[in-house]
Amino acid sequence: MKNKMFKKIASVAAISTMLLVAGCNSKDQDLKVTKAKSEERPIVIQGPMPIEAEYFADKLKNVKIEKSGTFVFYKGTLNDYPVIVTKTGKGMENAAAVTALTIEKFNPIAIINQGTSGGHDPSLNVFDIVLGKRTTNIGSLKTTNMDENQGTDPTTWIPMDLMASEGSGSDESANKVRHYEGDKDLLAAANAVKDTYTKGKVVEGTIGSADFWNSEVDRIKWIHEIYGTSVEEMEGASVAQIADAYDIPFLGIRILSNNKTNGGTYDPGTASANQEYVYEVVKEYIKMVKK
Ligand code: 5AD
Repeated sequence: MKNKMFKKIASVAAISTMLLVAGCNSKDQDLKVTKAKSEERPIVIQGPMPIEAEYFADKLKNVKIEKSGTFVFYKGTLNDYPVIVTKTGKGMENAAAVTALTIEKFNPIAIINQGTSGGHDPSLNVFDIVLGKRTTNIGSLKTTNMDENQGTDPTTWIPMDLMASEGSGSDESANKVRHYEGDKDLLAAANAVKDTYTKGKVVEGTIGSADFWNSEVDRIKWIHEIYGTSVEEMEGASVAQIADAYDIPFLGIRILSNNKTNGGTYDPGTASANQEYVYEVVKEYIKMVKK
C-alpha cells in the first residue's frame, strides 16, 4: 500500500515537473533568454605581447582575470558593456588556438586583433595605423620544382590558399591568395573615430601575416607586389580564418612600429598608441551595438 502511494506521489511530481519544464520552454521565455544573451556578447580585443594588451586591459572596469594555458583574458566592462582583452602570445598558432577558445568560451559579438607591425608600403611611416580592409596569410606558399643542386628561388614561389578545397596541396585551385575581408561595421566604427588619432595617419589596407620577420627589402617588395600588403605581422590572418569559420565579425588594426622600406626604425611606444586608438574604436562600436 505504502509502495503504491509512493508511486502515485512520484508520478504526480514527475508530471508537474514536465509541465514546469514545458512552461519554461515557452516561446516568450526563449526570446527573453536569447535577447539577454545577445545583449551580453562581449567585444574581444586581442594583443600578442604584454605591451600590446596590458595598456588596454588597464582601461577596463570590473576586471576579472582568467587564464587558459598561456592565454590571459582580462574580462571587464567599458561604458557598461562587456569587453575582454586577451594577451594571446605571438605567432599564428597562438592566434588560432586562442581565437577558437575565445569563441567557444565567450561567444563574442566581434573580435579585433591589434598590435604592432612592419611596413611594406614606403608611404606609411612608424606610428601610422592600418585598418585591415583585407587580411591575408603571406606564409602559405608552394615552391616550384627544382632538382638537387638547382638551388632555391623564393621569388618564384606561388601563394597557396589552404581553404580553396579539401583536396591535396597539388590541387591547382589552391594556387591563389586568400583574403579575409574586415567586417564592415567594425571598419565603419574605426573610420568614424579616425580624427581622434593624432600621432600619424589612419588608412585602410591589407595586413599580411606569417611566422616570420622580414628585413630584406627585396623580399618585402615581392610580398607587397604579390599580396598587396601594407604591413606584415604574425597573427591577424590566423585570427581572421578562425573568426570566418565561426562567422564572427573580425577586424585587424595594426600600427607600424618599424618600416624597413623607408628607414623607419622600431619604436615600442607604438604599441600603446595603437591601443589608445582602438579604445576609441571600441567605444564607437559599443554605441553602434547599443542602438
Ligand atoms: N614583422 C613581423 N612581425 C612584426 N611585429 C611587429 N613588427 C613586425 C615585423 N616587421 C609584431 C608581430 C609579433 C611581434 C614580433 O610584433 O605581430 O607579434
